[in-house]
Amino acid sequence: MPDLEKPAILFVCLGNICRSPLAEAAFRKAAQQAGLAVEVDSAGTGDWHVGKPPDGRAQATAARYGIDIGGYRARQLTEEDFRRFTHIFALDHANLSDICALAPGDGRASVALLLDMVPGREGQAVADPYFGDDEGFEVTWRDVTEAAEALAAQLLQ
Ligand code: 4NP
Repeated sequence: MPDLEKPAILFVCLGNICRSPLAEAAFRKAAQQAGLAVEVDSAGTGDWHVGKPPDGRAQATAARYGIDIGGYRARQLTEEDFRRFTHIFALDHANLSDICALAPGDGRASVALLLDMVPGREGQAVADPYFGDDEGFEVTWRDVTEAAEALAAQLLQ
């Protein structure tokens, strides 16, 4: 039986101010280009930055690719997210174990590492650029874009 459910995708990192907002932006763009009807959001496992906009370096990186993420606001992952979303993607292994630890018994979301979407990069993490330099944000953008395009292509099938 075909799955007619609209996909709902949530990207999760630690602070929801660097990697997952960039993943959300890259996937919104990939989904739009593919003509996919999807729900998209991002969240953090931690609560330190709740209510804040993305890190200025993440905003600058998205802006270089023509995307304004200045209106995004950080929020923390909740149990309700496991019922609302069909797919939850962790940016790294610590995020993955924190996500799994919060999963309620009645959740429907599948949970995986984001780079599992990219052939040859299964099991890899998107490195945390927060304590590094600007170049780290470019690496993050390349990683999340590669994964977003692969995810959009898979959802189209
Ligand atoms: P993110 O990056 O998880 O990609 O949003 C971080 C943001 C904040 C912190 C660490 C990583 N922090 O320690 O405050």
